Amino acid sequence: MPVIPVCSPFLAGKELVYIAEAVSSGWISSSGKYVPEFENAFAEYCGVKHGIAVCNGTAALHLALVALGIGPGDEVIIPDFTMAASAFAVCHTGARPVFVDAEKATWNINAGLIEAKLTPRTKAIMPVHIFGNPCDMGRIAHIAARHGLAVLEDAAEAHGAGHGGKKAGSLGTIAAFSFFANKNVTTGEGGMVVTNDDALAEACRYYKNLCFPLTGPRTYLHRDIGFNYRMSNLHAALGLAQTEKADYYRELRIAHGLLYRELLHRIPGVILQKNQPDGENVYWMNGVCVQPEMCGRTRDELVAHLAANGVETRLFFNGMHRQPALRKYGCDCSGEYPASDFLADNGFYLPSGSGLAEKDIRMICALIRDFFRG
Ligand SMILES: Cc1ncc(COP(=O)(O)O)c(C=O)c1O
Repeated sequence: MPVIPVCSPFLAGKELVYIAEAVSSGWISSSGKYVPEFENAFAEYCGVKHGIAVCNGTAALHLALVALGIGPGDEVIIPDFTMAASAFAVCHTGARPVFVDAEKATWNINAGLIEAKLTPRTKAIMPVHIFGNPCDMGRIAHIAARHGLAVLEDAAEAHGAGHGGKKAGSLGTIAAFSFFANKNVTTGEGGMVVTNDDALAEACRYYKNLCFPLTGPRTYLHRDIGFNYRMSNLHAALGLAQTEKADYYRELRIAHGLLYRELLHRIPGVILQKNQPDGENVYWMNGVCVQPEMCGRTRDELVAHLAANGVETRLFFNGMHRQPALRKYGCDCSGEYPASDFLADNGFYLPSGSGLAEKDIRMICALIRDFFRG
């Protein structure tokens, strides 16, 4: 039986042309024209001044935190319901991630619960635009301004999303993107920090390249301990080609998201992610939660039914307060996270790649409707 994959990369532009050019030029490491071209094109796409390409989204988050000066003794507010990379990036600095429960409707960080988690050690808030759905950035910016905190957007899942007329990546102090193969814009593996702040951009360029001085002669004397987070010219060639088509991919994702919503609404016991007012969701992934007490069926039964019919799905993340690694690291994992627990226990996502066929979405939704009727 053919399987509909949960998410395949969609490479519909000049990827091969640019990669071939990079190979024939011999510039296959991190020097070469595609790295700055991709950085400039993607920064422009986000509506910010600077883009700093790196090897993956986790490195982008870590680099942004380092540039913000976050380190041991500091705390960073993150959503409980997120991918582990958001929390691990904070741990890599020696700081401590502090978890805030999800909002029931949007599945993003519940901005109304942030202030209760602030301490004198809090240095930043990291909103994560879950599944491409922008957070309540107006409220988060307000809290950050009131308490003198930086805002690091984890926009790993939200290429081209927007809030209040501005693009994801331009909504905080600094932002991080992932270009993993399932993302709306991909380089296979890759990431980027974007910011309007000249000093932060400079710090990112410095730390990403082992703290080699940004100007002057190479003395091979290093004043600080840096990282090799460089992106190769080959990956940047892919990224430039992808960015040229980013609006097209965005439109495809949005069309798929809206079609899923049209076909799945009003099934008792089925819950879909709600958009933030003023938010432009790019529907990176189309999540579904099953409420067993409403419909007498469970998420796992629905996932098994879809798998038996050739539809690949993925379960939602487990919340950060449930992570043994974070407990071991010393995070406070006590307290209640009812919204995050509900999502982790009842949610999964449906095939969502940009290249998905409309007939496949219709078939998947018919299978889901049949399941609840049966
Ligand atoms: C919310 C979030 N943050 C960070 C990352 C890390 O990105 P990467 O896998 O490129 O390291 C991901 C990855 O998918 C993610 O979903």
